[in-house]
Amino acid sequence: MNTDAAIPFLDLVTPHVELEEELTALFRRVLHSAGFIGGPMVENFETAFAEFCDVRHAVAVNSGTDALRFAIMASGVQSGDVVLTVPNTFIATTEAISQARAIPEFVDVDEHTYNMSPLMLQRYLRNKCIRDKAGRLISLRSGRQVTAIVPVHLYGQMADMDSILDLAAEYGLIVIEDACQAHGAEYFSKKNNRWMKAGSMGRAAAFSFYPGKNLGACGEAGAITTNDSAMAANMKMLRDHGQSRKYYHDIEGYNGRLDALQAGILHTKLSHLTSWNEQRRSKAAEYNRLLSKSDAVGLPFEPSWSRGVYHLYVIRTSDREGLMSHLKEAGIGSGIHYPVPLHFQKAYVSLNYSAGDFPVSESAAGEILSLPMYPQLASEQQERVAAEVTAFVAKCRPGAAELNTLVSVERVG
Ligand SMILES: Cc1ncc(COP(=O)(O)O)c(C=O)c1O
Repeated sequence: MNTDAAIPFLDLVTPHVELEEELTALFRRVLHSAGFIGGPMVENFETAFAEFCDVRHAVAVNSGTDALRFAIMASGVQSGDVVLTVPNTFIATTEAISQARAIPEFVDVDEHTYNMSPLMLQRYLRNKCIRDKAGRLISLRSGRQVTAIVPVHLYGQMADMDSILDLAAEYGLIVIEDACQAHGAEYFSKKNNRWMKAGSMGRAAAFSFYPGKNLGACGEAGAITTNDSAMAANMKMLRDHGQSRKYYHDIEGYNGRLDALQAGILHTKLSHLTSWNEQRRSKAAEYNRLLSKSDAVGLPFEPSWSRGVYHLYVIRTSDREGLMSHLKEAGIGSGIHYPVPLHFQKAYVSLNYSAGDFPVSESAAGEILSLPMYPQLASEQQERVAAEVTAFVAKCRPGAAELNTLVSVERVG
């Protein structure tokens, strides 16, 4: 291996070249059958993905955004309702909420996991809402009824689902998981006394199969998982122009179907997903080991109740821009997920949030940096990345050689 070669942030070529024969044969099959939309390839993938996520139904659609939008629409959220989520996520989370004609409102994330803080959720529900005469939960900020929560399992790490589900049950709220970055992540549910898969705990969950995801298509793709058969049937109509059968439209729907080629590709790759996730986990452990000597770098935190799948490996440092350009000069790619919290985005000026409303998300946005992370990342490459990070930090803070100490995250209640 050329030890000076550039290390990309993401390598989408190698995994596809590794599967070239299988994928080419698949393409030929689709070409020769001309079954491009729907059909057995889509149905077989749905069955396999439902089994993988340990749920009754998977509904394949053409993106994670559609998945989330259809899940919210089919869950019973009404036009004008408030749906709670976090500011530290990709904008698709809130786009889906708005496109389902609901209003996004935010609660801050936990400073260790970067996922929805159950404590902040509890404070919001206790202090920022009232019950109206009919007993409905009303947001004091918008005057609208709060009906749902969308926790995001960001970076492939689980949100604290037991605590969120307990609060949702107490306040009568629907929970839809945004599992777009968390295919195969697991949560130890004390309530159920077992490990549970991302996408199996809420009323429904959305997955994205955008190419760079842990399970990625060769184009756009997504899926919804649920144990609720009525919801699954409704979402199948939503993805297909509201048809219950050909040219009989029970509702107005969308063109949100997954095509057969993508379904076939995803099905082929699904058989590798567990091993790819294991490789990501061991690469994360190796990064932790290599980077743990400097207290100037915050490492990803994995609570004892979470088995993350490291869609992203995110560190934290005060001179993020400096480190990023140092890595760039060394030929190493990196990324920021995400540089601007959603309440600061121009698109959400109308939501009227201010600086300081979500301090944890705001300070994280200025300090987080995602390092190269993919199953095919070689140990030598990883060592080079870690060496460059350590060298930069040592240059900036010569005394920073203490071991990282991370505080454990407590559950609410
Ligand atoms: C957290 C999150 N939610 C939703 C989405 C939307 O998925 P898609 O790009 O497939 O529409 C993504 C995709 O990046 C995501 O990361």
